[in-house]
Amino acid sequence: MRLVLALTALVSALPVAYAWGAAGHEIVATIAQMHLQPPVMRHLCAVLSSDADFDRTRPCTLAAIAPWADKIRMHARWSAALHYIGARDDHPPDSCAFPGARGWAGHEDINVLHAIRNVTGILDGFVARGGVRRASAKEMATASEALKFLVHFVGDMHQPLHLTGRDRGGNGDKVAWNGRVTNLHSLWDSLLIAKALRTIPRNYTRPLPVPPMEAVLKGTIYDPYVRRIMYEGVGLGAYSTVRGRWEDEVEAWLDCPAPPMQSFLQRPLQAAFGVGARSETDDGRICPHAWAAPIHKLNCDFIWPRELDDPAYPHMHAVDAENELRDAMEDYGRRGRSGGHYLELDTPEYAGAIAERWVVEKLLAQGGIRLAGILNDIFMPLTAHNNND
Ligand SMILES: *[C@@H]1O[C@H](CO)[C@@H](O)[C@H](O)[C@H]1NC(C)=O
Ligand SMILES: *[C@@H]1O[C@H](CO)[C@@H](O)[C@H](O)[C@H]1NC(C)=O
Repeated sequence: MRLVLALTALVSALPVAYAWGAAGHEIVATIAQMHLQPPVMRHLCAVLSSDADFDRTRPCTLAAIAPWADKIRMHARWSAALHYIGARDDHPPDSCAFPGARGWAGHEDINVLHAIRNVTGILDGFVARGGVRRASAKEMATASEALKFLVHFVGDMHQPLHLTGRDRGGNGDKVAWNGRVTNLHSLWDSLLIAKALRTIPRNYTRPLPVPPMEAVLKGTIYDPYVRRIMYEGVGLGAYSTVRGRWEDEVEAWLDCPAPPMQSFLQRPLQAAFGVGARSETDDGRICPHAWAAPIHKLNCDFIWPRELDDPAYPHMHAVDAENELRDAMEDYGRRGRSGGHYLELDTPEYAGAIAERWVVEKLLAQGGIRLAGILNDIFMPLTAHNNND
């Protein structure tokens, strides 16, 4: 009887966590869509609507396809490693290597940075061959899949725990959130966003007089949050007299450092020390490694709680799926009672400081702005072509 109850509880607990994870991706996609050139969005919708599973009953938005890569992850096991990256020598909070002398963990070019490079390359090729007007059904399907992956992976790249391999990105670290057991990774995927959504000032629940922004908001629970991130953070330019807190740096989020000069003599040496990694994924136009490096560093700065390594706090590392499931069931039974057993992070010192500094909001905004920058850049040649018709 207890087991049946525990299982029911577990099943009903899971979709909630999953849905919030999707919210982060949808928010990034929504902010991106607000910054797309209108002809670019039309091209993206032409690509997406060629898909067999395109939902014609809903408006074409990037948010609608943003969680797709997580939905197929269970069936397309090969794609799971494309959502994150971890370096062999990385061990927050003590040392943050990105990648460090021994390079990346796992298969060397199967990770989120290389995946972003790969799918942007596929979309560049699609555009170079003439885009939608010239594409075969097969090429359309490939482009659509690449686009859906890109929208998702740029989001993943802006979740700091997707950039460290320690304890599977914090999935193996139990912590308490308001007395309930969760893990560090889920807290960053979902719970911090969920809390932000619950504490939005009421003045953001109604539309603001900013047509290009409101046109993209489709009545979701995170609309007020996006309005706030845009109004107080990114800034609304000519639409507002209030300057956003990052308004002066938003342009610079798209900058890429000049690619390092390298002679063919240096190259093997750099590769041997892991420094070659950057030049494999980055160029002067799209540079996932350069963009991700400061985000990864946040793990050492304040994301990975030092107390987790204190033996006083248990934080079992689930070693396989079966253990993880059992742990989850046991934890669910303990909810609200011995969650206090684990390190509590819904505190003014942890979650409060993060909210006060707008850390999560800035990451979501950076993800959105960079995704828009990449898509505008890739699809702009097609829009110039169209104007000549
Ligand atoms: C992307 O990755 C696939 C699978 O590894 C590979 O076959 C393809 O050539 C890559 N495409 C680009 C443009 O990098
Ligand atoms: C909404 O309220 C907050 C806090 O009360 C304020 O800082 C912000 O400027 C307001 N936003 C708008 C759009 O009026």
